Amino acid sequence: MTMIGIARRNWALRLSVVLNVCVLLYVCVHFGSSGPWIEEQPANWVSPLGEAFKGTELTPNVSLTEGSKVGSTKETRIATTKETVNEKTTKENKSGVGDGGKNGNTNTTQKQEAIGTSSGLMTLEEAIPCNDKSTAPKTAQRGEYWVLYNYIPMSTQVKCWESVTYTTHADYTFLDNLIPLIERWQAPVSIALYAPGTDFQPTIDAIKWLRTCGSPLISQLVTFHVFFSNKHIPKSVPSSEKLASEGWNCSLHAPWTNLTISKMYKSEKKLLYPVNVGRNIAREWAPTHYVLPSDIELYPSPELAPKFLEMIRRRDQQPLYKPNPKVFPLSLFEVSADSQVPTNKTQLIRMLKAGTAIPFHKKVCAGCHNVPRSKEWQEARETEGLHVFHVGKRTGAFVHWEPIFIGTNNDPLYDERLSWEGKSDKMTQGYTLCVLDYDFLILDNAFMVHKPGIKVYKKDAVREMLSGKTNALIKKIIVPELKVLYGTRKGCAV
Ligand SMILES: *[C@@H]1O[C@H](CO)[C@@H](O)[C@H](O)[C@H]1NC(C)=O
Ligand SMILES: *[C@@H]1O[C@H](CO)[C@@H](O)[C@H](O)[C@H]1NC(C)=O
Ligand SMILES: *[C@@H]1O[C@H](CO)[C@@H](O)[C@H](O)[C@H]1NC(C)=O
Repeated sequence: MTMIGIARRNWALRLSVVLNVCVLLYVCVHFGSSGPWIEEQPANWVSPLGEAFKGTELTPNVSLTEGSKVGSTKETRIATTKETVNEKTTKENKSGVGDGGKNGNTNTTQKQEAIGTSSGLMTLEEAIPCNDKSTAPKTAQRGEYWVLYNYIPMSTQVKCWESVTYTTHADYTFLDNLIPLIERWQAPVSIALYAPGTDFQPTIDAIKWLRTCGSPLISQLVTFHVFFSNKHIPKSVPSSEKLASEGWNCSLHAPWTNLTISKMYKSEKKLLYPVNVGRNIAREWAPTHYVLPSDIELYPSPELAPKFLEMIRRRDQQPLYKPNPKVFPLSLFEVSADSQVPTNKTQLIRMLKAGTAIPFHKKVCAGCHNVPRSKEWQEARETEGLHVFHVGKRTGAFVHWEPIFIGTNNDPLYDERLSWEGKSDKMTQGYTLCVLDYDFLILDNAFMVHKPGIKVYKKDAVREMLSGKTNALIKKIIVPELKVLYGTRKGCAV
């Protein structure tokens, strides 16, 4: 008995020595040289920016089955280290860091990279590992809906790391917003249009009007997707090529002017607006890694996309390195109907003081859009560029927060059973973000402003009824599902 005991202890001792050596080697490989360590960080932290779980793969949490995984991670790292050392002489085999498909365009990016690395920084392409997406039109089913994905694609080619896509949804009556929106955003837009039955034709006309008579940025930067239920198919659907080649007589007015909403197909058939189907289509088919899923009446502050990407490329802020998954919420405001939309934070602050601007939905649902540290945010003066102002959580006073944020397609989607009329359509996503322990990195100089006109609460019996039904659906069906799928976390609520 004792002999076996001693043998066991010896064996355990030896094993622990071996393990220690392994850990030491692992540590040496990582911290051995300061330069390559800095170079390597993107693999480590850029992914958790969006990909909720990627970070855990890199933790040397050695269980027997994971041994091989850790080993292979180590190999990748050594390869990167070598590569960085030899960087000045050769730059051929540039893949490796968790991103297989990026070998194609070494030539064009070589110069950029050299600039980036010589200053100890990385290029945007290095900072955002992603795969480009096709913009080819595709017709496909999605639950009970037919979707014309990329029905009218934007004409500009964009790399997935190159910009941020504003993703949104609408029916054609909201498309007047697209012109002020694109003029402020000046980056890709992916929009899903709900066009059942006879609403399809005016939707097509509206797209043609915008592309022909609106801003030239529309055809350059906006991709239109169209969807309708299989119970409400339009009479005919022209091909993408035919549509893209057709113009519009600009002396005719746009289809959304002098409109009688009650005459719309959607109204006559009493159809609910499937807001989250549209949200998900637009987000999933965005051409870029970073997306800003939003509602079309919310106009972002100018130069938000390039400033955001510059912040990501710089990676000089502590909150960006935390292992939690992250999104970047924006502060939202409304301005009075006779006001101009402010073009910078300085102007916004002045309007807040004068009372011509107020926090979004202050008079409808303050709890839904109240952003952590909003008072301090409003007091902080505008600075150059973009930074993380505060890291918030969707707990405590913010437990019902429906944030609008820059994120990626790794974030949870929106529940497609919820309609716009039923309200609370972003609540279950917010809840899931909370359970997954997301950090909400609030940005300092960026904001969004609703199309001018301050919303006041109006009683609407039909919406009250639908909202009651939705709350029951969320409570009885959706939340129990989410508990099975994601577990629970203290402090999170729908
Ligand atoms: C455009 O519409 C106007 C007004 O209806 C009409 O007078 C004009 O002839 C049209 N132009 C063309 C090229 O069809
Ligand atoms: C739209 O309505 C306005 C006001 O009722 C009217 O002045 C205008 O002529 C109408 N425009 C068209 C194109 O019908
Ligand atoms: C903000 O916008 C206003 C109005 O366009 C302009 O006068 C002002 O110089 C801008 N301020 C900054 C800090 O950019």
